[in-house]
Amino acid sequence: MSAFITKYKRTHYCGALTVSEAGQEVVLMGWTHRRRDHGGVIFVDLRDREGLVQIVFNPEYEADSHQEAHRIRSEYVLAVRGKVCLRPPEMENPELKTGKIEVMIDELEILNESRTPPFLIDAPAAEISENVRLKYRYLDLRRKDIQQKLILRSKAAASTREYFQREGFIEVETPVLTKSTPEGARDYLVPSRVNPGTFFALPQSPQIFKQLLMVSGFDRYYQIVKCFRDEDLRADRQPEFTQIDIEMSFIDENDLMKIMEGFVAHLFRSCLGIEIALPLPRLSYRQAMERYGRDNPDTRFGMEIMDLTDILRHADFNLFQEVAASGGAIKAIRVEDRRQLSRKDIDQLQDYVADYGAGGLAWARINADRWTSPIAKFLKPVEIRDIETRLEAKSDDLLLVIADTPGVVNDALGNLRLHLARKLNLIDPKAFAFTWITEFPLMEYSDTEKRFTSTHHPFTAPILEDHVYLQSDPGRVRARAYDLVLNGSEIGGGSIRIHKKDVQAAVFAALGLEQEEIRNKFGFLLDALEFGTPPHGGIAFGFDRLIMLMTGADSIRDVIAFPKTQKASCLLTDAPSQVSIEQLMELSLKIVQ
Ligand code: AMO
Repeated sequence: MSAFITKYKRTHYCGALTVSEAGQEVVLMGWTHRRRDHGGVIFVDLRDREGLVQIVFNPEYEADSHQEAHRIRSEYVLAVRGKVCLRPPEMENPELKTGKIEVMIDELEILNESRTPPFLIDAPAAEISENVRLKYRYLDLRRKDIQQKLILRSKAAASTREYFQREGFIEVETPVLTKSTPEGARDYLVPSRVNPGTFFALPQSPQIFKQLLMVSGFDRYYQIVKCFRDEDLRADRQPEFTQIDIEMSFIDENDLMKIMEGFVAHLFRSCLGIEIALPLPRLSYRQAMERYGRDNPDTRFGMEIMDLTDILRHADFNLFQEVAASGGAIKAIRVEDRRQLSRKDIDQLQDYVADYGAGGLAWARINADRWTSPIAKFLKPVEIRDIETRLEAKSDDLLLVIADTPGVVNDALGNLRLHLARKLNLIDPKAFAFTWITEFPLMEYSDTEKRFTSTHHPFTAPILEDHVYLQSDPGRVRARAYDLVLNGSEIGGGSIRIHKKDVQAAVFAALGLEQEEIRNKFGFLLDALEFGTPPHGGIAFGFDRLIMLMTGADSIRDVIAFPKTQKASCLLTDAPSQVSIEQLMELSLKIVQ
């Protein structure tokens, strides 16, 4: 134990000192952020998690500590005792929270030295390679920016517990070593030593357990819980991520959405001081696809997609006629670009939509009396007028039109809308736009599996009036499922569950699941459904995604203390790594390469 720590106790955090401590003696401990030797006087910015304060070693004030201060280097750990002084006005640093004060040092102990760090702790993240940041994550985590994000994350977790406890929810932990769950991603498997040849799966979510808790009568459950999915990673996906997982009994979707809206409002108020207007807007899946081309629309800006098929199906233009006759769609967006986009930019947009399968992009620049457009010559004045009216077009606007299959049109225009909003700076980075998406299709036909698969998971209840189509037209059945979207990101999703055995059997049949497969995978849940299951439903929020959006982070990795790379590995620990032959033998495993 250091003599200093035995003799003195830390009195303040460096970054928390204020002018009201002026004149007081303080004991501080922290890291050397910067050291400047001004010919005689040595200044050190001492850092801890609360911020920086300038400490001063002046030979005329105290000679021994000044002498010792010559040894100080970046990231050395110091303990100091000194007096808080007001800086002369011309020496104040308005950039620093503690910029009006400094601490004159009487006593210094270097508690520990440091190797020269591989990057400067105050360098902007963009200047450091992410791989280096992840390898030395413990140094990266010294950076203020990332510490603040993790501090907000901690506050958000506390605020989540506070809300759900207050609303009568009970936090229950569920197993990590378990059986495959129904979310549809690939499982992470853990071999069992005791039962050779068998495997646990890490949970993709606690879905089945939370439903079982409803069977048990817990009524309102929540958990902040790790989930594991072996899927292709993106900027907002990690193989190991955290959900705020919720399940409730004796409710319908409106009850659940109301409680979740209360949660979101509480979270944003308590963590960011922002009031979210309730109730949150809702769109059906169909409306979202029609107006935004996707089921996770960014509603911070307009530029909605408009259907022009009825107007253009008889235009004197073969492509439009053919597309409309073959069940395709002709849709457009109106861009208020104030003529910022040049012909060359528009050509580049053609290449952009080609990536989404669109064969072409027709365009028209609106002028007061005529259109500048390669397609204008094919259109009758009445068609031009109808399009202008529908799109509420004004002079100088740019219309962009795609004719193709409905899937391609939605995908291409949905992405083009986002691309242009970013390019033209139409998005307010401070805005938070929430939207519920409801009435998803219950199942989708999978070309690879040659059968219908669940859009959400197979325990999601169909909308009552669509039960009749379960056998005859499964693709038409809508689900009692809902997603919550924030700024174009899916931050949560859930559903009302099936609680009746016959409905569950009908859904399994429509999914083409064999009895044996069903028993194997979910037998225990089906058994439980026969013992008095209450009507119930739930939702899970992606906690990391929420924090990412709340902190304005660009990547989900910036809000996770020890994240994995895009290749699902940890550069800090080198996991995953090889294991010894002995360990493999113990597990009855052999690596085949
Ligand atoms: P779902 O699969 O929609 O639902 O997941 C819920 C939310 O979790 C987040 N999420 C992820 N976040 C980071 N990395 C990932 N790989 C990842 N995958 C999902 C998303 C998503 O909205 N059991 C159901 C919930 C229920 O029905 O109650 C489920 O897990 O924000």
